[in-house]
Amino acid sequence: METSGVERRRRRRRVVLVPYPFQGHITPMLQLGSILHSKGFSILIAHTKFSSPNPSNYPHFTFLPLSDNLDGFDTSFHNLLNVMSVINSNCEAPFEEHMMQMVAEEEVCGQQVACIIYDPIMKFADAVANRLKLPSIVLRTTSAAYMHSHIVMFQLLAENLIPLPESQLHAAIPEVHPLRFKDLPLPASMEIPQVVLDFQHTTSATLDDFFSIGPFHKMAPAIPTSLLEEENICLSWLDKQAPNSVIYVSLGSLAIIDEKALTELAWGLAKSEQPFLWVVRPSLVNGSDAMESLPEDLIKTTQERGLVVKWAPQKKVLAHPAVGGFFTHCGWNSTLESICEGVPLICMPCFADQMVNARYLTYVWRVGIELENGRERTIEKAIRTMMVSEEGEVMRQRAFHMKREIERSMNEGGSSYESLNCLAVYLLSYES
Ligand code: UDX
Repeated sequence: METSGVERRRRRRRVVLVPYPFQGHITPMLQLGSILHSKGFSILIAHTKFSSPNPSNYPHFTFLPLSDNLDGFDTSFHNLLNVMSVINSNCEAPFEEHMMQMVAEEEVCGQQVACIIYDPIMKFADAVANRLKLPSIVLRTTSAAYMHSHIVMFQLLAENLIPLPESQLHAAIPEVHPLRFKDLPLPASMEIPQVVLDFQHTTSATLDDFFSIGPFHKMAPAIPTSLLEEENICLSWLDKQAPNSVIYVSLGSLAIIDEKALTELAWGLAKSEQPFLWVVRPSLVNGSDAMESLPEDLIKTTQERGLVVKWAPQKKVLAHPAVGGFFTHCGWNSTLESICEGVPLICMPCFADQMVNARYLTYVWRVGIELENGRERTIEKAIRTMMVSEEGEVMRQRAFHMKREIERSMNEGGSSYESLNCLAVYLLSYES
């Protein structure tokens, strides 16, 4: 139980959070803010004007919008590296100006900046923290295992070994069990943009001294985090389905696929003959309205036993008893949200950390099926295996066991519980 003295001391501590403005990154940062607020800290969210969270959803936080000059800029998936550079060049000056003012006014307002917690892509926040001599912490919104894969990637780059020959991709990486070279976030060539090379610095800095904390969404008081509108109709549709009967399909907020892959997925769902809930967000297929590119008879077939929505309340969907499997791109948030509900996964990783997450899900924790690329009827087969075979049932039991393990780690004395407390104590240790 906290004493009121500690509580007062914490409220005088302001934690400044700097999220990268995309769903998979902004969600964990807002959840961390909510957790730290519940532990007594004041929270300031310094955010780009592009894709900003709605302040009225978070009356307990204060918000600092930063001019990013992204108006009219191409913010699509293919241009993300340029988006990162533009944000880093444009947000540094306004952020520094606000932070200097805040530090100057600390005495008057009775609140001290305890720390700046920033997404590693928002590198400008670290530069400002260093210049103003403010403590800073990197919040990596990916798994700890992904950091190791980054280190191997940078080693390969330093040794001029990229691109790797096709024949080496399936081989195990000797020093990073259980990863294979194909699980690394390998660039196609040696031409690596500066913004990616900058990760090298934050990766080694983080590995020296990191807290592995989470799953945030189970530790945070529930707060809205979706940047798109959720279609809650899917929850009443799920209410009408049998327990563990529905396969939920979503590829997160960023991944894009081509029309051929979309059609293959639709046929896989149709031929599997299982009920499904499918998220087809407007930007899922490159350059066209996704559903319009499907043949009409296929849409009709899929609609007979499925529901297609543009954006779902995913955490509630995965917690629904009707959902028995998750066909996913293996983003880290989706991975955590699924295993926290004991839902096994069909893994179709697309980029970055997703291959590492898929490898752990399928090979280490054995709660996932790896899609066999290029094999005929692979999607249909994977869905049937997951939803109606004994193998799928065994995976579901393993996933349920994992859910219980996670719950134990969040209880007093568990590793997640203790790590979070360590973080709060660490933040309080920054005395002026
Ligand atoms: C990105 C990267 O792709 C991912 O690999 C990295 O780990 C984090 O940043 P994203 O692709 O969006 O994120 O995937 P993910 O991490 O799974 O995050 C998606 C979030 O959107 C999840 O929290 C999920 O609950 C939410 N979501 C997704 C919805 O609320 N509704 C939907 O319909 C789909």
